[in-house]
Formats: sequence, structure tokens, C-alpha cells
Amino acid sequence: MNTREMFAKAVDGGYAIPAFNFNNMEQLQAIIKACAETKSPVILQVSSGARKYANQTLLRYMAEGAVEYAKELGWEHPQICLHLDHGDTFELCKSCVDFGFSSVMIDGSSLPYEENIALTKKVVEYAHQFDVTVEAELGVLAGVEDDVVAEESHYTKPEEVIDFATRSGCDSLAISIGTSHGAYKFKPEQCTRDPQTGKLVPPPLAFDVLEEIEKKLPGFPIVLHGSSSVPQEYVDIINSHGGNLPDAVGIPEEQLRKAAKSAVCKINIDSDSRLAFTAAVRKVFVEKPGEFDPRKYCGPARDEMVRLYKHKIIEVLGSDGKAE
Ligand code: 13P
Repeated sequence: MNTREMFAKAVDGGYAIPAFNFNNMEQLQAIIKACAETKSPVILQVSSGARKYANQTLLRYMAEGAVEYAKELGWEHPQICLHLDHGDTFELCKSCVDFGFSSVMIDGSSLPYEENIALTKKVVEYAHQFDVTVEAELGVLAGVEDDVVAEESHYTKPEEVIDFATRSGCDSLAISIGTSHGAYKFKPEQCTRDPQTGKLVPPPLAFDVLEEIEKKLPGFPIVLHGSSSVPQEYVDIINSHGGNLPDAVGIPEEQLRKAAKSAVCKINIDSDSRLAFTAAVRKVFVEKPGEFDPRKYCGPARDEMVRLYKHKIIEVLGSDGKAE
């Protein structure tokens, strides 16, 4: 399904739909299991890195298989959207629309304003013919996502959002209020340090900017990218089992909880699942160095991801029980 109805209900109900990236079978199984067990609607996201790694055709059919898997798990009416994450050209978005994706993102945020509108509008005009919804982005997030790097963030300018949404015709808008991609969302100099744990405490998100945007576009679906919280328990397991992730820090969950209650109705999480996977695999490698069957370390990784996704759905986004 596309995102239209999902978002309308989420905005009304004061919760957010999880948008989880997937690159492999274990991740997809974990997402579907967590959503089936909690009856949460879900957006499955495919990034350009995922397409390069796993092959777009394979991912698309895996998503179709995921719907059947969800039903097998006893989820009678699964609400699953297949979404292109960070499409950067009209051609790519068109190919995903033609290929059966139910939603696409066109990310023209690095372009000059008028060019971002023109590109988004072109994608919207094409996608809407097939009832495919379109996410656009205004403002720039810092951080690394796959091979896309942006050094600095620029908050979305609230004075631009009405013009942008109206002229582009987009169905939802990703904004920049201080989140960023990856496991290193803030530089140590942007944070304070907890004297007890020595861990970095990140600066708060710009909720004033979000509130202004909501006032300008009441009820319009807003999207937050870069919303992993980088759970410190995973960072600690990784670091104590041969890994090296110094000062990895994310967005505190209470801030995401607050955002989910507002017009933010899609929250993107990718890095946290990578951390859960890596922590579980590293643990097996250290504790059972003789293990060489991938199922013996990918299995625990999958179980850990199920726990992570369920936690996000129930404790952070509030989307449990919304797709009975
Ligand atoms: P994280 O790196 O914070 O998980 O963000 C993922 C994302 O926004 C995908 O578009």
C-alpha cells in the first residue's frame, strides 16, 4: 500500500509509522516478525546502497514475499509499504514506480530551491498516475548515508514549506531539525559529557522549527530521517567484543517520542538495526570462536533486531495495534 492512509491516521492518532531500511533476509524477517507481533503498519525502505548490495529486483520480490510471510505469521491484514529511500533522479524514481514500489522519495535537498521543486513536481506528476506517493526533502541533514556525505546541516526554513509543498505537490516532507544519518550524529564538541558514564549527551532537536512548520502546514505529513538513537548497550557490546566505535551517539528516544506525537508521521531508522546485528554477531564470534555456520550468528542477530524493532514500535513510535 502507499503511505496516504497510513499517514492520515498517524497524524490524527499522534503516532509515527516506522520506516526501516532492509538489505538482507534476516533484517526483513525481523522487521516483519516485529510488525506482525505488534500489528504495526510499516514502511520497508530500499536505499541506493541496498540496491547496489542486494539487487533491486531481488529486494522488490523479497518485499512481496514479506507480505505473504506476514500473513503466515497470523497478521491478517498486513499494512506494508515498499518505499524508495533517497531517490536522486527522476529516472530512478520512475523505474521504482514502474517496478511496483508503492512510495518513492525524491531527494532534491542538495539542489537550489527552484530546481528541487521542479524535480519533485516531475516525480509527483509521474508517480501519482499510478497512485504511488512521493516524499520530498527540504533542508539538509548532516551525516553519512551509504555513500552520500553532507558535512553540514541546514535546518528547513519554515517560511518555505507552504510554497514548496503546494508547488511540488509532494505527499510528505522530510525536514531537517538536527537529526542526521549514521552512528556519529554529533561531533563531541557539539555535545556535553555525562560525568558519571563519560558518554556524550547530544544537543536537543530544534522543536521550535518543527512547531513553526506544523503551524504553516497543519496536518501535513512530516518525515524525520536520521532517527536512530544509537543504543549505548549495543555500542558497549561492540566495543567490548573487539569493535571500535568511539563516541557513537544518536537521537535520544524521548525526543523521538515527542516528535512522533506531532505532525511527524514517519521516522527513519537504519543504523540502530545495523548496531543490533553487529553487536549480536560480535558476541557469538568472541564467545564461540569455533562457530562457522552463518545461521548460528545471523540467527541471534535476527532475534536481536526483532527485539529492537518491537521496542521502537511500542516504546518510541506508538504504532503498535494500528494495523489490526
Ligand atoms: P539512521 O542512520 O539514523 O538510522 O537514519 C536512517 C535514514 O534516515 C534512512 O533514510
